[in-house]
Amino acid sequence: MAPMSELTRDTFGADFTWGVAHASYQVEGAWAADGKSRSIWDTFTHRKGKIRDGSNADVACDYYHRYRADTDLVAELGFNAQRFSVSWPRILPDGVGRVNQAGLDFYSRLVDANLERGIEPWVTLYHWDLPQVLEDRGGWVNRDIVGWFGEYVARVVEVLGDRVTNWMVFNEPCSFIHGGYLSGYHAPGRRGLLKALAATHHVNLCQSVGAETIRAGVANANVGTTQIITPMRTEADTPAHRRAAAVIDAFTNRIFLEPNAGLGYPVDVSPFIRPVERYMKNGDEQAMEVDWDFIGVQYYCRLLVKPVPIPGLWGVPWPSRDHRQFDVSGMGQEIQADGLYESLQRVNDLPGNHRLVVTENGVTVPDRLVDGRVRDIRRVAFYQDHLAEVARARADGMPVDGYFCWSLMDNFEWAEGYTARFGLTYVDFDTQERTVKDSGRWFQQFLTGKGARS
Ligand code: FCB
Repeated sequence: MAPMSELTRDTFGADFTWGVAHASYQVEGAWAADGKSRSIWDTFTHRKGKIRDGSNADVACDYYHRYRADTDLVAELGFNAQRFSVSWPRILPDGVGRVNQAGLDFYSRLVDANLERGIEPWVTLYHWDLPQVLEDRGGWVNRDIVGWFGEYVARVVEVLGDRVTNWMVFNEPCSFIHGGYLSGYHAPGRRGLLKALAATHHVNLCQSVGAETIRAGVANANVGTTQIITPMRTEADTPAHRRAAAVIDAFTNRIFLEPNAGLGYPVDVSPFIRPVERYMKNGDEQAMEVDWDFIGVQYYCRLLVKPVPIPGLWGVPWPSRDHRQFDVSGMGQEIQADGLYESLQRVNDLPGNHRLVVTENGVTVPDRLVDGRVRDIRRVAFYQDHLAEVARARADGMPVDGYFCWSLMDNFEWAEGYTARFGLTYVDFDTQERTVKDSGRWFQQFLTGKGARS
């Protein structure tokens, strides 16, 4: 593999998309402004004991009011794309029906702010902030959501579809379903295998409803979705270890990737997956198939899987803290850049003609603002190592044509609150002051040839 020092922007080709990513609930704030109703994350964070530092995202980065200056920053750092998500309860405060024009106007202005600065808007339709009123009717566990979601997507597409080409239907179904409906660690905080399997099936159906609705309303749309890909690792190569890894892999990766690729559910791998069939109706297998233009690959870490003697489950993901072998992020995740290559290959190997875009990749490290500067050299190294893996994937013929950093700026990191900073820009959450970190300056230098600090 070519060392990063030999890579330049040109290595990735003139048409490569260089972006930053963030999401409505994590940055916008303005949680009750201009007719928006509560999302499940508003409800969840306002309950005691759910978020590590007891915080919420009522204000977050105040992006709702500061998006112009923040979009200036995207341009200044040399990126040509900004990925953001639309908040469903801003658009449809009742979940369905009545449209909140002020909410649509906000996203319309945001799209224009990007285009005026020569930045391509990349829109995610669902990044976890379901209207609470719909959760009260069962949320993702209720099959009616397929209709509710289609209506929501149609409203967004009607307004933004004349200017937005690049669309992602979902952000990481695995994360919000397993967090929200299996373990209860994320909003809406429900727990249960059957709830998670029902939600999984409904989201898989919504993937194709979303894609069709976009294509019906947008000429030349570039339609994708995003998936977190978690490669599995074991400490030994025994049949028990392999079986354990296969089960956890089916739960985390295959169950979300394969139905859309026309491969159905991996029900043979575990009796814990088989109950998904009780939520399937005639024709659902075909209805879930999607012909994606691209699949967004999001990679953070591999998982270590340990065998457990529970028939049907056989394995559990195990936090591994192998400091001798790997550097570890601020959230305890092992940093293994070649896992990004493995994730891209995995998605590339699925049937279909989709291209690949890295729609999220980033790291939290303990950042300190000292004399107006954040020397986040570990984050710079992280990006260099991961970009080298993207270059390797391209050199090996994989059609990867974009890379988005998570994230433009520090923001509300779900159950971790403000304790985990992922930004290229440091945010002082008391003053809302932004300070570009050394990693942001490194990108600026890499992308524009200007601005790096020694
Ligand atoms: C991803 C999420 C994103 C952010 C990063 C750190 O799993 O999609 O919203 O929280 O992790």
